[in-house]
Amino acid sequence: MEKQKFNELLRKKAAELDEIIQSFLPAEEGLQKTVISAMNYSVLAGGKRLRPMLMLEAYRMCGGRGGEIEPFLAAVEMIHTYSLVHDDLPAMDNDSYRRGRETTWKVYGETMGILAGDGLLNLAFETALKAFDRVDGKDAEAMKRVAGALKTLAEKAGIRGMIGGQTADIEAEGRRESVTGEELLFIHRCKTAALIQASLTVGAILAGASEGQVEILEKCGEDLGIAFQIQDDILDVVGDSGELGKPVGSDAENHKQTYVTLCGLERAKEDVERYSKEAAALLGEFEADHSFLEQLFLTLIRRRR
Ligand code: IPE
Ligand code: IPE
Ligand code: MG
Ligand code: MG
Ligand code: MG
Repeated sequence: MEKQKFNELLRKKAAELDEIIQSFLPAEEGLQKTVISAMNYSVLAGGKRLRPMLMLEAYRMCGGRGGEIEPFLAAVEMIHTYSLVHDDLPAMDNDSYRRGRETTWKVYGETMGILAGDGLLNLAFETALKAFDRVDGKDAEAMKRVAGALKTLAEKAGIRGMIGGQTADIEAEGRRESVTGEELLFIHRCKTAALIQASLTVGAILAGASEGQVEILEKCGEDLGIAFQIQDDILDVVGDSGELGKPVGSDAENHKQTYVTLCGLERAKEDVERYSKEAAALLGEFEADHSFLEQLFLTLIRRRR
Protein backbone atom coordinates (compact mmCIF):
# COMPACT_ATOMS: atom_id res chain seq x y z
CA MET A 1 0.00 0.00 0.00
CA GLU A 2 1.21 3.47 -0.81
CA LYS A 3 2.61 5.31 2.20
CA GLN A 4 0.08 8.14 2.14
CA LYS A 5 -2.85 5.76 1.84
CA PHE A 6 -1.47 3.66 4.68
CA ASN A 7 -1.10 6.71 6.91
CA GLU A 8 -4.67 7.78 6.17
CA LEU A 9 -5.96 4.32 7.01
CA LEU A 10 -3.89 4.28 10.20
CA ARG A 11 -5.41 7.60 11.28
CA LYS A 12 -8.91 6.41 10.48
CA LYS A 13 -8.47 3.18 12.42
CA ALA A 14 -7.00 5.03 15.42
CA ALA A 15 -9.96 7.45 15.40
CA GLU A 16 -12.41 4.52 15.36
CA LEU A 17 -10.57 2.94 18.28
CA ASP A 18 -10.64 6.25 20.15
CA GLU A 19 -14.41 6.25 19.91
CA ILE A 20 -14.69 2.68 21.18
CA ILE A 21 -12.31 3.38 24.08
CA GLN A 22 -14.19 6.56 25.00
CA SER A 23 -17.49 4.73 25.10
CA PHE A 24 -16.21 2.67 28.05
CA LEU A 25 -14.90 5.59 30.12
CA PRO A 26 -16.79 6.43 33.32
CA ALA A 27 -18.74 9.63 33.97
CA GLU A 28 -16.88 12.09 36.21
CA GLU A 29 -19.28 12.25 39.13
CA GLY A 30 -19.70 11.38 42.78
CA LEU A 31 -17.28 11.86 45.65
CA GLN A 32 -14.72 9.87 43.67
CA LYS A 33 -14.89 12.39 40.82
CA THR A 34 -11.23 13.42 41.13
CA VAL A 35 -9.81 9.98 40.50
CA ILE A 36 -12.17 9.44 37.57
CA SER A 37 -11.08 12.78 36.05
CA ALA A 38 -7.44 11.74 36.44
CA MET A 39 -8.15 8.40 34.75
CA ASN A 40 -9.98 10.01 31.85
CA TYR A 41 -7.27 12.67 31.54
CA SER A 42 -4.64 9.97 31.04
CA VAL A 43 -6.62 7.89 28.55
CA LEU A 44 -7.95 10.84 26.55
CA ALA A 45 -4.49 12.38 26.17
CA GLY A 46 -4.25 10.17 23.12
CA GLY A 47 -1.38 7.89 22.27
CA LYS A 48 -0.95 5.76 19.23
CA ARG A 49 -3.55 3.17 20.31
CA LEU A 50 -1.14 0.55 19.02
CA ARG A 51 -2.26 -2.27 21.32
CA PRO A 52 -6.00 -2.12 20.53
CA MET A 53 -5.07 -1.74 16.87
CA LEU A 54 -2.99 -4.94 16.96
CA MET A 55 -5.80 -6.70 18.79
CA LEU A 56 -8.47 -5.74 16.28
CA GLU A 57 -6.29 -6.60 13.28
CA ALA A 58 -5.41 -10.01 14.76
CA TYR A 59 -9.10 -10.63 15.54
CA ARG A 60 -10.11 -9.86 11.96
CA MET A 61 -7.20 -11.78 10.47
CA CYS A 62 -8.33 -14.86 12.42
CA GLY A 63 -11.90 -14.47 11.18
CA GLY A 64 -13.47 -12.64 14.13
CA ARG A 65 -16.54 -10.55 13.26
CA GLY A 66 -18.39 -10.03 16.57
CA GLY A 67 -18.82 -7.22 19.07
CA GLU A 68 -17.22 -9.01 22.03
CA ILE A 69 -13.83 -7.67 20.97
CA GLU A 70 -14.79 -4.06 21.82
CA PRO A 71 -14.55 -4.26 25.63
CA PHE A 72 -11.16 -5.94 25.23
CA LEU A 73 -9.92 -3.16 22.92
CA ALA A 74 -10.73 -0.60 25.61
CA ALA A 75 -9.36 -2.83 28.37
CA VAL A 76 -5.91 -3.29 26.87
CA GLU A 77 -5.56 0.45 26.35
CA MET A 78 -6.63 1.05 29.98
CA ILE A 79 -3.97 -1.38 31.23
CA HIS A 80 -1.34 0.19 29.00
CA THR A 81 -2.31 3.69 30.14
CA TYR A 82 -2.19 2.67 33.80
CA SER A 83 1.32 1.29 33.22
CA LEU A 84 2.37 4.67 31.84
CA VAL A 85 0.72 6.64 34.66
CA HIS A 86 2.62 4.58 37.24
CA ASP A 87 5.83 4.49 35.16
CA ASP A 88 5.92 8.31 35.23
CA LEU A 89 5.54 8.60 39.03
CA PRO A 90 8.43 10.14 41.00
CA ALA A 91 9.12 6.73 42.56
CA MET A 92 9.62 5.25 39.11
CA ASP A 93 10.87 7.28 36.12
CA ASN A 94 9.90 10.67 37.56
CA ASP A 95 8.68 12.15 34.28
CA SER A 96 6.54 15.27 33.85
CA TYR A 97 5.50 15.03 30.22
CA ARG A 98 3.52 12.30 28.46
CA ARG A 99 1.37 12.07 25.34
CA GLY A 100 1.98 15.75 24.75
CA ARG A 101 0.67 16.85 28.13
CA GLU A 102 1.78 17.09 31.72
CA THR A 103 1.79 13.66 33.33
CA THR A 104 -1.15 12.60 35.46
CA TRP A 105 0.71 12.94 38.77
CA LYS A 106 1.94 16.42 37.75
CA VAL A 107 -1.62 17.61 37.24
CA TYR A 108 -3.47 15.67 39.93
CA GLY A 109 -0.71 15.04 42.47
CA GLU A 110 1.12 11.87 43.33
CA THR A 111 -1.65 10.28 45.39
CA MET A 112 -4.20 10.66 42.61
CA GLY A 113 -1.57 9.39 40.15
CA ILE A 114 -1.32 6.16 42.13
CA LEU A 115 -5.08 5.84 42.51
CA ALA A 116 -5.79 6.69 38.87
CA GLY A 117 -3.44 3.88 37.80
CA ASP A 118 -5.12 1.46 40.21
CA GLY A 119 -8.51 2.66 38.99
CA LEU A 120 -7.60 2.05 35.35
CA LEU A 121 -6.30 -1.44 36.04
CA ASN A 122 -9.49 -2.39 37.83
CA LEU A 123 -11.70 -0.71 35.25
CA ALA A 124 -9.88 -2.65 32.54
CA PHE A 125 -11.10 -5.94 33.97
CA GLU A 126 -14.58 -4.60 34.74
CA THR A 127 -14.68 -3.59 31.09
CA ALA A 128 -13.27 -6.79 29.60
CA LEU A 129 -15.82 -8.81 31.62
CA LYS A 130 -18.57 -7.06 29.66
CA ALA A 131 -17.57 -9.24 26.71
CA PHE A 132 -19.54 -12.07 28.37
CA ASP A 133 -22.73 -10.04 27.79
CA ARG A 134 -21.90 -9.76 24.11
CA VAL A 135 -21.83 -13.45 23.31
CA ASP A 136 -24.65 -15.98 23.45
CA GLY A 137 -24.63 -17.30 27.02
CA LYS A 138 -25.81 -20.69 25.75
CA ASP A 139 -22.82 -20.94 23.40
CA ALA A 140 -20.29 -22.69 25.64
CA GLU A 141 -17.47 -22.30 23.11
CA ALA A 142 -17.97 -18.54 22.85
CA MET A 143 -18.05 -18.20 26.66
CA LYS A 144 -14.82 -20.23 26.84
CA ARG A 145 -13.15 -17.95 24.32
CA VAL A 146 -13.95 -14.88 26.42
CA ALA A 147 -12.65 -16.64 29.56
CA GLY A 148 -9.45 -17.62 27.72
CA ALA A 149 -8.91 -14.06 26.53
CA LEU A 150 -9.33 -12.77 30.10
CA LYS A 151 -6.79 -15.26 31.38
CA THR A 152 -4.21 -14.16 28.80
CA LEU A 153 -4.79 -10.47 29.47
CA ALA A 154 -4.44 -10.95 33.23
CA GLU A 155 -1.26 -13.04 32.92
CA LYS A 156 0.51 -10.75 30.47
CA ALA A 157 -0.19 -7.66 32.57
CA GLY A 158 0.96 -9.36 35.75
CA ILE A 159 4.08 -10.56 37.57
CA ARG A 160 5.17 -12.79 34.70
CA GLY A 161 4.50 -9.99 32.26
CA MET A 162 4.46 -6.21 32.46
CA ILE A 163 4.73 -5.85 36.25
CA GLY A 164 7.55 -8.39 36.35
CA GLY A 165 9.42 -6.45 33.67
CA GLN A 166 8.95 -3.11 35.42
CA THR A 167 10.32 -4.68 38.62
CA ALA A 168 13.48 -5.95 36.92
CA ASP A 169 13.84 -2.62 35.07
CA ILE A 170 13.75 -0.56 38.26
CA GLU A 171 16.03 -2.92 40.16
CA ALA A 172 18.62 -2.86 37.38
CA GLU A 173 18.58 0.93 37.49
CA GLY A 174 19.62 1.19 41.10
CA ARG A 175 22.40 -1.32 40.75
CA ARG A 176 26.13 -0.95 40.31
CA GLU A 177 26.83 -3.94 38.00
CA SER A 178 25.83 -3.56 34.39
CA VAL A 179 22.93 -5.55 32.99
CA THR A 180 23.66 -8.50 30.78
CA GLY A 181 22.11 -8.87 27.33
CA GLU A 182 20.02 -11.70 28.69
CA GLU A 183 18.65 -9.57 31.54
CA LEU A 184 17.84 -6.70 29.24
CA LEU A 185 15.96 -9.04 26.90
CA PHE A 186 14.01 -10.34 29.90
CA ILE A 187 13.12 -6.75 30.81
CA HIS A 188 12.05 -5.82 27.28
CA ARG A 189 10.15 -9.06 26.82
CA CYS A 190 8.22 -8.60 30.05
CA LYS A 191 7.72 -4.87 30.47
CA THR A 192 6.76 -4.17 26.87
CA ALA A 193 6.42 -7.29 24.70
CA ALA A 194 4.04 -9.06 27.09
CA LEU A 195 1.19 -6.59 26.57
CA ILE A 196 1.85 -6.52 22.82
CA GLN A 197 1.69 -10.32 22.79
CA ALA A 198 -1.55 -10.16 24.76
CA SER A 199 -2.97 -7.74 22.21
CA LEU A 200 -2.36 -10.10 19.32
CA THR A 201 -3.28 -13.31 21.11
CA VAL A 202 -6.44 -11.99 22.80
CA GLY A 203 -7.64 -10.97 19.33
CA ALA A 204 -6.85 -14.44 18.01
CA ILE A 205 -8.38 -16.31 20.97
CA LEU A 206 -11.65 -14.35 20.74
CA ALA A 207 -11.81 -15.07 17.03
CA GLY A 208 -11.53 -18.79 17.74
CA ALA A 209 -8.05 -19.25 16.23
CA SER A 210 -6.33 -22.62 16.57
CA GLU A 211 -3.71 -23.21 19.26
CA GLY A 212 -1.03 -23.23 16.58
CA GLN A 213 -2.12 -19.83 15.32
CA VAL A 214 -2.13 -18.38 18.83
CA GLU A 215 1.41 -19.71 19.33
CA ILE A 216 2.61 -18.02 16.14
CA LEU A 217 1.14 -14.71 17.29
CA GLU A 218 2.74 -15.17 20.70
CA LYS A 219 6.15 -15.34 19.01
CA CYS A 220 5.24 -12.55 16.63
CA GLY A 221 4.25 -10.30 19.56
CA GLU A 222 7.47 -11.11 21.37
CA ASP A 223 9.61 -10.03 18.41
CA LEU A 224 7.50 -6.96 17.72
CA GLY A 225 7.47 -5.97 21.38
CA ILE A 226 11.23 -6.30 21.78
CA ALA A 227 11.73 -4.20 18.64
CA PHE A 228 9.26 -1.65 19.96
CA GLN A 229 11.12 -1.23 23.27
CA ILE A 230 14.54 -1.05 21.57
CA GLN A 231 13.17 1.74 19.36
CA ASP A 232 11.75 3.41 22.48
CA ASP A 233 15.25 3.32 24.00
CA ILE A 234 16.68 4.76 20.76
CA LEU A 235 14.12 7.58 20.69
CA ASP A 236 14.99 8.48 24.27
CA VAL A 237 18.43 9.35 22.90
CA VAL A 238 17.83 10.70 19.40
CA GLY A 239 14.09 11.52 19.36
CA ASP A 240 12.35 14.86 19.37
CA SER A 241 10.37 15.45 22.53
CA GLY A 242 7.75 17.58 20.72
CA GLU A 243 7.10 14.81 18.26
CA LEU A 244 7.28 12.04 20.88
CA GLY A 245 5.00 13.81 23.33
CA LYS A 246 7.32 12.71 26.14
CA PRO A 247 10.78 13.75 27.27
CA VAL A 248 14.02 12.62 25.69
CA GLY A 249 16.97 11.92 27.92
CA SER A 250 14.82 10.45 30.69
CA ASP A 251 16.78 7.17 30.66
CA ALA A 252 20.15 8.94 30.95
CA GLU A 253 18.83 11.09 33.76
CA ASN A 254 17.78 7.96 35.64
CA HIS A 255 21.11 6.25 34.82
CA LYS A 256 19.06 3.55 33.19
CA GLN A 257 20.85 0.80 31.33
CA THR A 258 19.09 0.45 28.00
CA TYR A 259 19.57 -1.36 24.73
CA VAL A 260 21.45 1.69 23.50
CA THR A 261 23.84 1.86 26.45
CA LEU A 262 24.43 -1.88 26.16
CA CYS A 263 24.82 -2.29 22.38
CA GLY A 264 25.26 1.18 20.93
CA LEU A 265 22.95 3.07 18.63
CA GLU A 266 23.88 1.35 15.38
CA ARG A 267 23.47 -2.18 16.65
CA ALA A 268 20.22 -1.14 18.35
CA LYS A 269 18.84 0.15 15.03
CA GLU A 270 19.86 -3.04 13.25
CA ASP A 271 18.15 -5.13 15.88
CA VAL A 272 14.90 -3.15 15.64
CA GLU A 273 14.86 -3.96 11.96
CA ARG A 274 15.77 -7.60 12.44
CA TYR A 275 13.15 -8.29 15.14
CA SER A 276 10.45 -6.37 13.25
CA LYS A 277 11.09 -8.26 10.02
CA GLU A 278 11.02 -11.55 11.89
CA ALA A 279 7.65 -10.59 13.33
CA ALA A 280 6.34 -9.55 9.91
CA ALA A 281 7.53 -12.80 8.32
CA LEU A 282 5.50 -14.83 10.84
CA LEU A 283 2.32 -13.21 9.53
CA GLY A 284 2.98 -15.15 6.32
CA GLU A 285 1.61 -18.19 8.18
CA PHE A 286 -1.88 -16.68 7.96
CA GLU A 287 -3.90 -17.12 4.80
CA ALA A 288 -6.27 -14.21 5.40
CA ASP A 289 -5.32 -10.72 4.31
CA HIS A 290 -2.78 -9.23 6.70
CA SER A 291 -1.22 -6.58 4.47
CA PHE A 292 -2.13 -3.69 6.78
CA LEU A 293 -0.73 -5.45 9.85
CA GLU A 294 2.46 -6.34 8.02
CA GLN A 295 2.94 -2.78 6.82
CA LEU A 296 2.27 -1.52 10.35
CA PHE A 297 5.05 -3.76 11.75
CA LEU A 298 7.50 -2.51 9.12
CA THR A 299 6.50 1.14 9.53
CA LEU A 300 7.22 0.92 13.25
CA ILE A 301 10.91 0.27 12.45
CA ARG A 302 11.36 3.92 11.62
CA ARG A 303 8.75 5.39 13.92
CA ARG A 304 9.54 8.77 15.45
CA ARG A 305 6.80 8.67 18.07
C1 IPE B 1 5.19 3.68 25.58
O1 IPE B 1 4.28 3.02 24.76
C2 IPE B 1 5.74 2.77 26.60
C3 IPE B 1 6.45 1.62 26.07
C4 IPE B 1 6.06 0.42 26.31
C5 IPE B 1 7.62 1.80 25.26
P1 IPE B 1 3.70 3.73 23.46
O2 IPE B 1 4.83 4.29 22.65
O3 IPE B 1 2.79 2.78 22.75
O4 IPE B 1 2.87 4.94 24.08
P2 IPE B 1 1.54 5.66 23.58
O5 IPE B 1 0.41 4.75 23.92
O6 IPE B 1 1.64 5.92 22.12
O7 IPE B 1 1.48 6.92 24.39
C1 IPE C 1 8.06 1.51 30.21
O1 IPE C 1 9.26 1.66 29.55
C2 IPE C 1 7.27 0.40 29.75
C3 IPE C 1 6.04 0.29 30.56
C4 IPE C 1 5.61 -0.85 30.95
C5 IPE C 1 5.27 1.47 30.94
P1 IPE C 1 9.78 3.16 29.55
O2 IPE C 1 9.88 3.70 30.92
O3 IPE C 1 10.99 3.24 28.68
O4 IPE C 1 8.56 3.89 28.79
P2 IPE C 1 8.53 5.44 28.49
O5 IPE C 1 9.76 5.77 27.68
O6 IPE C 1 8.49 6.15 29.79
O7 IPE C 1 7.28 5.60 27.66
MG1 MG D 1 10.18 2.98 32.86
MG1 MG E 1 9.36 5.74 31.53
MG1 MG F 1 11.46 4.76 27.34
